[in-house]
Amino acid sequence: ALVSMRELLDHAAANGYGIPAFNVNNLEQVQAVMEAAKEVGAPVILQASAGARKYAGEAFIKHLIQAAIEAYPSVPLVMHQDHGQSPDICKGAIDLGFSSVMMDGSLEADGKTIASYEYNVETTKKVSDMAHRVGVTVEGELGCLGSLETMKGDKEDGHGTDATMTREQLLTDPEQAADFVKRTQIDALAIAIGTSHGAYKFTRKPTGDILAIDRIKEIHRRIPNTHLVMHGSSSVPQELLAIIRQYGGNMKETYGVPVEEIQEAIKHGVRKINIDTDIRLAMTGAVRKFLAEHPEKFDAREWLKPAREAAKQICKQRYIEFGCEGQG
Ligand code: G3H
Ligand code: 13P
Ligand code: ZN
Repeated sequence: ALVSMRELLDHAAANGYGIPAFNVNNLEQVQAVMEAAKEVGAPVILQASAGARKYAGEAFIKHLIQAAIEAYPSVPLVMHQDHGQSPDICKGAIDLGFSSVMMDGSLEADGKTIASYEYNVETTKKVSDMAHRVGVTVEGELGCLGSLETMKGDKEDGHGTDATMTREQLLTDPEQAADFVKRTQIDALAIAIGTSHGAYKFTRKPTGDILAIDRIKEIHRRIPNTHLVMHGSSSVPQELLAIIRQYGGNMKETYGVPVEEIQEAIKHGVRKINIDTDIRLAMTGAVRKFLAEHPEKFDAREWLKPAREAAKQICKQRYIEFGCEGQG
């Protein structure tokens, strides 16, 4: 059943767990997440980026998620707009039936220029007013996602800025977060703590100097009733990189966000954990392996099946690791 994000995150907060929000673009990804959730009894957040809506098309994104609700009536499900870049995009998502939207006002509508604080407050408040009138949950973002190793914003996946920034711009300021939430009345806040989107987050296993988990505690202390969201939370498993490389892929050395760090973050108010890259890696590894081992096959269902299965496994693992088992 379609539920509100606020409801799901409130339950997660009351019971001390976090919910992975998986990006979906097609049938197999939706099926993988739903099957994983059903097997472990987890609640589901399916999120679609602007890129996903463009890739699949509005009608397909809408009806793929409607199909998930119909096929899995007992699983609580949130349909979320990931990284809405303007009030118009968020309005479009609400009209499509999304139960939650992210207004990412950390960047201007071009998705590249670092926005002023006042711009962020103004656009986010606009979406918050509009969405709350119709019972839709709102996520905002404060601080600019990017790497504390390179001091650059992330541009990896085509949205974001590659501008050089200061440490302060790359970390969410707790005082400002309190002001932001008070003025925008958002339900959830995406924070910048050193994670970035995509596969290339860190050149080594991250420690406190490049992944500021401590900052989460300070932010949570200031805004205990606002659910915190961690973007760029793929763990980039070395095993998945190894499979891709073994079957001809070219992945440079890289490290993601360790699951233990996410588990620590969950203890301090992080309730929604965004994951896209890990699913991409899992599916790509499985397809490469299958096609390398079966060069004579050409039925798309045959290679999509192991891809879907690999995606399901990673989703299931994250549901269990974040404490979602039996919470759905
Ligand atoms: O926020 C980024 C997600 O990984 C979605 O990526 O914009 O390529 O669909 P995308
Ligand atoms: P990853 O690239 O780490 O999977 O992050 C996805 C994300 O934050 C989507 O909003
Ligand atoms: Zn994101």
